Amino acid sequence: MLYDNLFIRLERARWQLSSDIDFDAIDPSLLTPQWRSDLRHICLTELSALYATEMFIRDFYADIDFCSFISIWFYEEMKHHLVLRKYLERCGEHFEEAELPSLRLTFAPGPAIETLTMHFCGEQRLAHWYTAFSHEAPEPVLRHVFKTLAADELRHAACYAKYLRRAVTNKPDCLRDILKMALWMIRSTNDAPKHPTTVTDPSVVGQLEDPEYITRMLNWYLPGRDHERPVQRRILALMSELSGDEMETPRDLLRVIRVVEQRTPAPAAA
Ligand SMILES: [Fe+2]
Ligand SMILES: [Fe+2]
Repeated sequence: MLYDNLFIRLERARWQLSSDIDFDAIDPSLLTPQWRSDLRHICLTELSALYATEMFIRDFYADIDFCSFISIWFYEEMKHHLVLRKYLERCGEHFEEAELPSLRLTFAPGPAIETLTMHFCGEQRLAHWYTAFSHEAPEPVLRHVFKTLAADELRHAACYAKYLRRAVTNKPDCLRDILKMALWMIRSTNDAPKHPTTVTDPSVVGQLEDPEYITRMLNWYLPGRDHERPVQRRILALMSELSGDEMETPRDLLRVIRVVEQRTPAPAAA
């Protein structure tokens, strides 16, 4: 099982909440009201790992390996929620626990391979956003927190990549669906940013007080259209590897999808 090796690797890479984040060094006076509000939203968005875990364990029912890995992913994502909540508490911000269940969602069942691809792309994108926030945040401890979380999100993407490789090895026909979902996820803008927390209906972010917060933060901290290049590069690198066809642009991906579709036509409707 991939889980066995991932368990060891993630255990080695893991940071400690109680010793690696210097909560005593936080300077709340540096945190602007806008950052307080945005952080609250990011913290609540991380909580959505709870609803996603419920979905994974339901939709990957027979995949014991992947469900085992999800136990680690869930733990690490909830730790993201916790570190941001602890940070905010040090700054005098508090959440009403009784209000949290109102944010809870149940995701509609979906094809497992598309969910896997969406999460691979989403982790890459979130790592990119958090890296930007680690440069732009006004308070040094917060900058360190975002740098730490970005590294976790990149590691999560690498884990999803392993499960995508395994899926293609076991069932080469699933490549078409992976490539199509990757193309759909790559086509993201600041005005309509694509991440598993934004693309469902209803969406996780749509439940929050300010559903536009990601768009606003991206327009401030990652303006312009070209900032997505590193995300595209990483997604296309995996798609190139899976398909054995070198791709550098979304246009290349579209070309490969057409080739793969000709090779493996969609199954006829029953
Ligand atoms: Fe996270
Ligand atoms: Fe993650």
